[in-house]
Amino acid sequence: MTNRPDKHDPHSMAFATQSVHLGNEIDAGSGAIRTPLVMANSYALPEDPTGIDWSDTNGLFYTRNTGLNQLRLEEKLAALERSEAAAVFATGVSALHGVFFTLLKSGDHVVLSDVTYEAIWRLFNELLPEKYGISATFVDITDLDEVRAAMRPETKLVHTEVIANPTTEVADIAALAEIAHANDALLCVDSTFSPPPMFRPLRHGADLVAHSLTKYINGHGDAMGGAVIGSKDVVSKIKADALVDTGGAISPFNAWLITRGSVTLPLRLRQHVDSAQRVAEFLEKDPFVAYVYYPGLPSHPQHETAKRQFRGYGYGGMMAFAVEGDADMQNRFVANLKVITSAVSLGHDESLIVHVGPEGRGGWERYPEPFRQYGHLRFSVGLEDPADLVADLSAALDATFG
Ligand SMILES: Cc1ncc(COP(=O)(O)O)c(C=O)c1O
Repeated sequence: MTNRPDKHDPHSMAFATQSVHLGNEIDAGSGAIRTPLVMANSYALPEDPTGIDWSDTNGLFYTRNTGLNQLRLEEKLAALERSEAAAVFATGVSALHGVFFTLLKSGDHVVLSDVTYEAIWRLFNELLPEKYGISATFVDITDLDEVRAAMRPETKLVHTEVIANPTTEVADIAALAEIAHANDALLCVDSTFSPPPMFRPLRHGADLVAHSLTKYINGHGDAMGGAVIGSKDVVSKIKADALVDTGGAISPFNAWLITRGSVTLPLRLRQHVDSAQRVAEFLEKDPFVAYVYYPGLPSHPQHETAKRQFRGYGYGGMMAFAVEGDADMQNRFVANLKVITSAVSLGHDESLIVHVGPEGRGGWERYPEPFRQYGHLRFSVGLEDPADLVADLSAALDATFG
């Protein structure tokens, strides 16, 4: 019989089945049908340990190299992205830093999107150039001619977010892979806003995909983590250089929590996507809303790219908008919300909103005009009943402008 799903064969299962079964197995010691949490710094050594490679990241002996719960999460993430290997880290930033630290050296050049998560912007704008002599050119990643023009013989890496934090601009991953590879550079893609099954950048030519596991993949706002996924060769090198020798290991507890949280990823993501579309359409119609950037709206500058790239799955759970008025009005609006929580982070079960002023982010000068005029409210649409979310937004608009 062909196509028979088997939970011991990761690639035989559909995504939802993988999400349930991967990363979990019957515990040989107790017979428990859930992989136990192993909170141990060390594992027993063999009788003769002299042959151990202390930089090995597959053998179990020290938790900075790896541990049972880290290995299970890595196997699961690699399969969910339909790739060979994954490395998990303490945070999304440590995973991304691991990529840059491993793949770049003094004299190398990077082309990256001019809208990127704050820590990555600062790494390339300041820290890596000043400390290591790595140069970077920030480009409008949606302008492929600008990307091509920025490539140099010493460009080793192109880096972008699929859907950018915070402007939600959408990068064309297949086109960027072509440009990077024509220059013998690698393409690294942060897909935190577009986790699988919504999008799999490696299938569109990216060499590495990174996630902040803190967000959708865990989904419950109670554990931080990061991952980088790709070919065995590159991921092993990242583990050896950036995990064993510079630290950044995830706690086994967080790896266990994230493995558990990821069981419901397909169900949660479907709800995030459906609710975000509904909420964005509501906001766009309100006369007191100054602008809404959500890739699912036909008014979004990369709506057509998003439609083609995400192939009908939907457009994610993240949007940016502002209400009419100055920073005080944005704050008053947020203070009038009774369900949606004012806090950073995203991809949690609860809806989160954060007000960022016009000049509040590195590289803001290149943000679209309404972001520079009003600042923005970055909104992560959660899993509450979408009617409650619309009612909360509507009541807060009335209370602010009524
Ligand atoms: C797109 C993106 N990448 C990376 C990160 C960093 O992840 P972490 O907070 O887990 O380090 C974030 C955090 O918000 C993010 O939004």
